[in-house]
Amino acid sequence: MVRIAIVGAGRMGKTHSGIVKQLPDAELAGIYDLSAKASAALAAEHGTKVYAAPEEIIADPAVDAVVLCHPTFAHYQALRLFLPSGKYILCEKPMVRHRGEAEAIRREPNAATKLAIGFMRRQQPGYQKIKQWLDDGTLGTVRMVKMGCNVAVYKRLWDDWFADFALCGGVPLDMLSHHFNLLNWYFGMPCQACGAGLMFDRPMEQPVDYISGSFVYANGMIVNIDGSWQRQGVGYDRIEVYGDHATALYDQRELLLCRPGQNEKVDLGQPVAPYVEQMKSFVATVAAGAVPAIGVEDGYWAFRTADALIESAKTGRFVTFED
Ligand SMILES: NC(=O)c1ccc[n+]([C@@H]2O[C@H](COP(=O)([O-])OP(=O)(O)OC[C@H]3O[C@@H](n4cnc5c(N)ncnc54)[C@H](O)[C@@H]3O)[C@@H](O)[C@H]2O)c1
Repeated sequence: MVRIAIVGAGRMGKTHSGIVKQLPDAELAGIYDLSAKASAALAAEHGTKVYAAPEEIIADPAVDAVVLCHPTFAHYQALRLFLPSGKYILCEKPMVRHRGEAEAIRREPNAATKLAIGFMRRQQPGYQKIKQWLDDGTLGTVRMVKMGCNVAVYKRLWDDWFADFALCGGVPLDMLSHHFNLLNWYFGMPCQACGAGLMFDRPMEQPVDYISGSFVYANGMIVNIDGSWQRQGVGYDRIEVYGDHATALYDQRELLLCRPGQNEKVDLGQPVAPYVEQMKSFVATVAAGAVPAIGVEDGYWAFRTADALIESAKTGRFVTFED
């Protein structure tokens, strides 16, 4: 039985604790939130204990693993605290808020062996199938990719940490780090980034966040990507991968494999719940004492990709990846 403590009793804390409760080979060890009221409410809902401080989790021999689901700006401090304990960690994405933090976490003891990052889109059969087609040559050489994600029911206001670019990194770091992780998994790192963005323009009455950018790869492949949090309209989350043999189109509902004159709808089997699959995989990793499949390097390079796009949008210049 893998015993899991949850840090942060907000949206993701509720999601992850509910999933842990469902799994036969995991149990909730307890909840910690900076707000004692929030921890008490979630702990009562699940009939588990409340930790009064993160140090209590570290000291508790009944905890095998910790799920960090508190705000992004506080991930670094928590990772520095929990990693030396040797307990497994599933950290919600993005791994950290700042470049120096990303570099430091990469060097932390246990980061390479005990840290998993919550890039749950990697559990979706549609994205997995595209990876298979890239690896087995079905798509051929990829020349261009288009990716876009718009959340059209954005309700945040200025007093919310999600609407503070300094705290959350806005749509490029917060939302698109999922997409950058997918791109890095598929293609490795780009050479160059350029972008433009609204990035929480303070004079606007309500926060509106938008970024649009391009990445260029060593082989000349171009990725165009856009991300936005808007208050109306129709949301989307899609990827189009154009190879010289075939094109893959995936929009979360449907995966198409397109060859000249023929668009084939691909059967993705029974729908899966990505957060549940992610937690099952994490629990299996902890039980086996294995290295997480999606770990610190994924978190680091997704961060670097987002950071380059943000820097380009801020400076109006192309940003080149040197290492
Ligand atoms: N994987 C995904 O699809 C996904 C979706 C949403 C959010 N996230 C990420 O999950 C994290 C949490 O987001 P959320 O939407 O649950 O936030 P939230 O604001 O709903 O909840 C955060 C909770 O953390 C608590 N908290 C604040 N500082 C803390 C600290 N230092 N220690 C302990 N608790 C603290 C708050 O009191 C609050 O209860 C963020 O990093 C976010 O980017 C991931």
